[in-house]
Amino acid sequence: MASAILSPANPSQLCSSKSAIFSASPKALTRTPQLAVVKEKGMKVKCQATSVPADDRVPDMEKRQLLNLLLLGTLSLPTAAMLVPYASFFAPPGSGNEGGGTIAKDAIGNDIIAAQWLKAHGPGDRTLTQGLKGDPTYLVVEKDRTLATYGINSVCTHLGCVVPWNAAVNKFICPCHGSQYNDQGRVVRGPAPLSLALAHCDIDDGKVVFVPWVETDFRTGEDPWWA
Ligand code: FES
Repeated sequence: MASAILSPANPSQLCSSKSAIFSASPKALTRTPQLAVVKEKGMKVKCQATSVPADDRVPDMEKRQLLNLLLLGTLSLPTAAMLVPYASFFAPPGSGNEGGGTIAKDAIGNDIIAAQWLKAHGPGDRTLTQGLKGDPTYLVVEKDRTLATYGINSVCTHLGCVVPWNAAVNKFICPCHGSQYNDQGRVVRGPAPLSLALAHCDIDDGKVVFVPWVETDFRTGEDPWWA
């Protein structure tokens, strides 16, 4: 018996005999085949599949670890991009300030710069801004053309209407049921049961910042009902 291993360049030459028998294990079929021709008695030709050694086909450990890292990075980046906005939905409203305050916004959503605001708003001015948790909050300009250290939440304590400032009578007068508040937001006429809520008004890096008011209400001497 004689045998030879040939290139698969022209396998038809190798397996032209009707008696050619192909045999290959499942493991061998996953590899690049070469054809081996074995001549047996009676000039029968037997074709067998052989393979390149397994070590040449399986990536080494470093390559597999690199591929795993690439796969992990590919999956984790878009996943994180989706999870961050989802998680932020459950977080408390953004403070916008390291001290837990919120930068006041004007009517078109721009940060309020104190110096610019005071140029445009004179003494006694009370103008609505966007305050804590987005509540409409009055920014108060004192008679000496400085910003008051408090802002006044404009939400009526009766049923929640926004209370406008009436400069002519120096009061906040609710249009819904007629409640009235003085120029600092203290209730002076019902049916509103409580004064308007307060927020600290600070200046940080030139910007106006509202900070939650948790101390005694200076208008009533009582604990803040909104804290
Ligand atoms: S909501 Fe303001 S008085 Fe009723």
